[in-house]
Amino acid sequence: MQNPVTVIQSVRLDDENDTLVVLNQTVLPNETNFLELRELEDIWDAIYQLKVRGAPAIGIAAAYGAYLGAKKSIAETYEALFEDFKKVKDYLATSRPTAVNLFWALNRMENRFKQEAGKSVAEVKAALKEESEAIRAEDEKICEAIGEHALSLLEPGWGLLTHCNAGTIATAKYGTALAPIYLGQEKGYNFKVYADETRPLLQGARLTAWELQQAGVDVTLICDNMASIVMKEGKIQAVLVGCDRVAANGDSANKIGTSGVAILAKHYNIPFYVCAPLSTIDLECKTGDDIQIELRPSEEITSKWYEKPMAPEAVQTYNPAFDVTDHSLITGIVTENGIAYAPYTESLPKMFKS
Ligand code: MRU
Repeated sequence: MQNPVTVIQSVRLDDENDTLVVLNQTVLPNETNFLELRELEDIWDAIYQLKVRGAPAIGIAAAYGAYLGAKKSIAETYEALFEDFKKVKDYLATSRPTAVNLFWALNRMENRFKQEAGKSVAEVKAALKEESEAIRAEDEKICEAIGEHALSLLEPGWGLLTHCNAGTIATAKYGTALAPIYLGQEKGYNFKVYADETRPLLQGARLTAWELQQAGVDVTLICDNMASIVMKEGKIQAVLVGCDRVAANGDSANKIGTSGVAILAKHYNIPFYVCAPLSTIDLECKTGDDIQIELRPSEEITSKWYEKPMAPEAVQTYNPAFDVTDHSLITGIVTENGIAYAPYTESLPKMFKS
């Protein structure tokens, strides 16, 4: 039987209608609705508002956005089209700062543009379409490969804990941290998955629990502050998380709360794996200190999910969307080309060569 979740296309191009179609992740699990985005501002907003989210899906959406933005241009020469393309690219790059996949995908689109130097406007537009479609299609294969490598670290029947959502809807297909769970399910591994709810935007509760439940995986939702007790009770044999940016020394930025989970895993002697495509590894960032952490609005903490505000009016808040897990807490970084182990300054560059 086909898995009803991994067939969902959370980001896709409808070229005939000049539209980017995204699964609106802000209304899940109550509604499954797809947004049809034609204006560049709407694509920017969909990324900023997390309607499309998860590092690889953000990259794919940005690539399609860059293509659709260039397609709209009325420029008649290569040079004029490049100017318009650059404006689109620079604008989309301001939507979210932490996931490097956004910049990686936009730069890849620019490189493709440059490779087409001297070609007609129509030819360049066709090349940009091809490149954006390639970014999406490659991500599917990459996630599957990450899943296979990660599965080699796990044993049937294990309890797994995950934070945020690094699943099929955060990527082209399968996800990163959830890919081994889907592949394991096909092989009868019977994992028991614990999903942290992931305050404040509840990606674990709204998205991971929904995804895994729809797929028929044994999933148990816990509040973030329950990770310690399930570890202490022996329910967790490995932690798997996704990632938004890996620095050259292995420090990894992921959804806020991830570093706390890693500290707990170390305490309880549980392996902690980061699953990340090479497009998430930023060797230009020397350490986690060089990763820009996105700060988000107060209402996400105080009122967003409640009928009434759950904090005093105008209370000061601090709402960083990501934190950095120190490389010393990471057992291994699983990429499509294999698993990198410490020292990461040596093992990560090798991943790009295999
Ligand atoms: O703010 P979000 O929901 O985009 O954050 C997403 C995460 O932190 C994911 O774990 C990460 O992007 C990996 S998705 C495969």
